[in-house]
Amino acid sequence: MSTLDHRWRHGLSRRQALLSLAGLLAGSPLLRAQLDPRPLKDHRRVPGLDEMLSAFDFEPICFANMTLRNYDYMAHGGDSEFTLRRNREAFEWVQLVTRPGVSADGVDASTEVLGVKMKYPIFIAPSTRQRDCHPDGDAGMYQGATATGTPMIVASGSSVPIQRVAEAANGPRWSQFYPIENLTAAREQLELFQSHGARAIVVTVDQQASNYERDLHNRNLGAAPRPAAGRGGGPPNRRTATRGPAQYGADPRRFWYSWQYLDEIRPFVKGQMLVKGIVTGEDAKICVEKGIDGIVVSNHGGRGLDYEPSTLEVLPEIVDAVGGKIPVLVDSGFRRGSDLVKAIALGAKAVCLGRAPRWGLGAFGPAGVQRLLEIIQAEFREAMASTGRTTLAALDRTAVRTNFP
Ligand SMILES: Cc1cc2nc3c(=O)[nH]c(=O)nc-3n(C[C@H](O)[C@H](O)[C@H](O)COP(=O)(O)O)c2cc1C
Repeated sequence: MSTLDHRWRHGLSRRQALLSLAGLLAGSPLLRAQLDPRPLKDHRRVPGLDEMLSAFDFEPICFANMTLRNYDYMAHGGDSEFTLRRNREAFEWVQLVTRPGVSADGVDASTEVLGVKMKYPIFIAPSTRQRDCHPDGDAGMYQGATATGTPMIVASGSSVPIQRVAEAANGPRWSQFYPIENLTAAREQLELFQSHGARAIVVTVDQQASNYERDLHNRNLGAAPRPAAGRGGGPPNRRTATRGPAQYGADPRRFWYSWQYLDEIRPFVKGQMLVKGIVTGEDAKICVEKGIDGIVVSNHGGRGLDYEPSTLEVLPEIVDAVGGKIPVLVDSGFRRGSDLVKAIALGAKAVCLGRAPRWGLGAFGPAGVQRLLEIIQAEFREAMASTGRTTLAALDRTAVRTNFP
């Protein structure tokens, strides 16, 4: 067991510390008059893996295993976190229409996305800093995902080297890529990912604006100081920069590329190339015209520009604009099997999960990822059966009633 692993398993979390303190107080002579025979610590315990009933059950356990600073990095949304909330609220505007006569056993939720065959239309969304959740990081996520037949999209900023991720399991895997201005550096990174088995490249084009006030407000509770660029952290660049985004105090890694960049990097991608971060039909059409192989409708889980719409409400417009020419994937806010059924009914080919599997990883390691995905898969099958559908092809817009504002 590595030192990091040991610390993660046996380290004193805030909750444990509070429980010990409560236990100490309960045993204190000062509290002898206390009649409750059971001290606080006997009422509380951390539920086990077998007791997890939904993805939401994993989050508090994941929280207890992480520092506030790392948890907030995962949980936060941009600015006032409107989009973060709206991503979840949107599921209340789509109702499922039930039809009797189908049992969950008769459901076949299998599909194929750009040559990847899968039992359920679920991907792991790319997310950086997975080692915040567990020492095995992305390698552990990949193991848990592969155990359930779920393909993983590895983040360009994977917290363990891509070589180690590749060795951890053998399931289908794609890699995500953030635009890099220097084309030689871009080519080298893309070649590295592909040489380690990425069957497709997902180019993320959103998150141009990202400002996380939640972390700033926690600065006295151990939150990370903001990186030296971007709003709230910008002066060093603003004073010295004479061109580009930095002169406005904006993060210099963003706001520099145009659509043409996709043409420039296309020769470096041997297999399929997808674009992640599309929220309008117009941009989806540009992707189709450019010969992009697939898109991911995403607002980065509410971590980009605040006051963007939820992805669920823009999904139908984008599916219509694309007209079946390329697969449309979607993410942001998906937690339950029924959430996924709604997106498939609205025309998505598959759904990517960002925070939810991280909760599984943070709570119980790779086994937690596996269990969480199994729960969502079972929920998906049951919700699909309840709509009277046995195949994804049959899961069309008549399976839902939408009431978007
Ligand atoms: C902690 C964290 C890190 C992320 N890092 C990346 C990243 O490096 N690249 C990327 O394209 N998306 C990244 N995302 C966005 C996810 O791919 C995905 O769009 C988002 O998490 C979906 O929303 P959900 O978390 O509500 O499922 C990240 C998300 C989180 C929560």
